[in-house]
Amino acid sequence: MATSDIGLDKTLAGLGVSRAAQVTARFAEVRADFDGHFTTVRDESDWKMFRDRWLGRKSGVLTLITDNWLKPAPPDLKRVVGQELNTLRAHVEAKIEERRTAVEAGAESASLARERVDLSLPGVIRPIGSHHLIPQVFQEVEDIFVSIGFSVVEGPEIETPYYNFEALNIPEFHPVRDDMDTFYLGLPKDAPEPLLLRTHTSPMQIRIMEKCQPPVRVIVPGKVYRRDNPDATHSYVFHQVEGLAVDTDITFCDFTGTIEYFVKQFFGPGVKTRLRPSYFPFTEPSVECDVSCIFCGGIGTAAGGGTCSKCKGAGWIELFGAGMVDPAVYGFVNYDAKKVSGFAFGMGIDRLAMLKYGLDDIQVFFQNDVRFLRQFP
Ligand code: PHE
Repeated sequence: MATSDIGLDKTLAGLGVSRAAQVTARFAEVRADFDGHFTTVRDESDWKMFRDRWLGRKSGVLTLITDNWLKPAPPDLKRVVGQELNTLRAHVEAKIEERRTAVEAGAESASLARERVDLSLPGVIRPIGSHHLIPQVFQEVEDIFVSIGFSVVEGPEIETPYYNFEALNIPEFHPVRDDMDTFYLGLPKDAPEPLLLRTHTSPMQIRIMEKCQPPVRVIVPGKVYRRDNPDATHSYVFHQVEGLAVDTDITFCDFTGTIEYFVKQFFGPGVKTRLRPSYFPFTEPSVECDVSCIFCGGIGTAAGGGTCSKCKGAGWIELFGAGMVDPAVYGFVNYDAKKVSGFAFGMGIDRLAMLKYGLDDIQVFFQNDVRFLRQFP
């Protein structure tokens, strides 16, 4: 109800009130108005408006009654107006205070409901990553060789021509360099020597023998680079594990025994090994190591009949190059070629992985397609 409707803007005389009973009736009206509105106060903002309307210092209802009804009241009514006003004030203040507590409690429980933490909700799922297949296969190979006494070392991917070629008995202009065309770094004109991305892990043979005296038994996992055009079996970056064992009494038998052990551990006990003559400038004799085809079991015939597509009917698959260390190499590292002997091998890890896991495209290793990666958790 507006202030004017209950006559708060007028004096009692202006309202025609001259007797005590009329005063009491007026106050009863005001109180009814208060009680009526009081029930509509729900939240904090309702409550604040309501409090200001009734208790506001300048123009609250109680102030208006004091100013317009009490102060100008004729002496005979002053006492009853004063009493009624005190009663009304006590009622208004008590009720407003009572509602404040209720509104505050309501606000609190509303905010509690809003901020409620539901511990039964599923959490934020952070997918756990896994190793790429290539490091997994590196690890498999390392485990096998570590178990028979080899150590694992790594070397630089940026090499000098000396370590990548010359010290491995590959002189400049030797035709074998054509197979290992690589990336040279763009260096300032006054650079002391050219630098290249290593084409194989073999430079580490030299670096290790320069540092350590025999016996040496190491494997070297790492990335290598060649200027090959990418296709299903070529990539300009791929992975190798180099192996080197040098001592005073290492024979070709030690070499074949080591290789056979590795192949059986890696592919399974039924897989056979075959060595074919080959050529590398840094091994003599050199061999190419083949394994019996792991897809057709070495018979050259596919399961459903017809020629095995993996070994093309040969029953054998070429695996890696190896050989006895060429005595010429010992000359580059100050080993006495008359006293020491040893073997070396260089395995393509991508190839091993493709054979073992039945993949026919090397490019999948570099495409980072999670649908591929997830198959090797
Ligand atoms: N480095 C040779 C290659 O990448 C492989 C190899 C290593 C051969 C060690 C013999 C001995 O082709």
